[in-house]
Amino acid sequence: MHNEIEKILISQEEIQEKCQEIGAQLTEEYDGRFPLVIGVLKGAMPFMGDLLKRVETHLEMDFMDVSSYNGGMKSTGEVKIVKDLDTQVEGRDLLIIEDIIDSGLTLSYLVDLFKYRKAKSIRIVTLLDKPTGRSANIKADIIGFEVPDEFVVGYGLDYEEKYRNLPYIGVLKPEVYGG
Ligand code: PRP
Ligand code: MN
Ligand code: MG
Repeated sequence: MHNEIEKILISQEEIQEKCQEIGAQLTEEYDGRFPLVIGVLKGAMPFMGDLLKRVETHLEMDFMDVSSYNGGMKSTGEVKIVKDLDTQVEGRDLLIIEDIIDSGLTLSYLVDLFKYRKAKSIRIVTLLDKPTGRSANIKADIIGFEVPDEFVVGYGLDYEEKYRNLPYIGVLKPEVYGG
């Protein structure tokens, strides 16, 4: 699997250090507020796990499974809810966790939905931000790393459902996706 990676953009150590840093920030911001932390499946899973281990205050976790890429390299532009939350968001402080913001369509859809459901506050933390890909008007409150306009995989991010279990963020060799 590792020999299909052309280069590592963000190492395992850099990711872990960033989780520690953002975790400390969230501890301060949410102390005493019992936020509802929402992981956007499937991509956010590794980041959510490592990040929340570093948050030292009470929080509630829930998951939303949405998909717009169908495993491919381009957003279909249509966000599909695969699994909704089990929790009521009305009056809650929400923290949405994402692995990457690219076009911004996934998050703008979710933010609109949670506003409609009367969340008290909505904040977004994303490990990666790809500002060059943006078509929706959306910005994260906390960003781990900015990435260039390349198709990245690993640490939650897939290509045809593979590579999510890599411990780092990397770029695939072009021959892997027939480029
Ligand atoms: C990917 C990624 C983000 C979203 C970002 O999810 O995990 O959730 O796309 O792209 P956007 O800003 O252009 O909407 P995907 O739909 O591939 O589902 P997955 O997390 O299950 O892979
Ligand atoms: Mn996703
Ligand atoms: Mg995907």
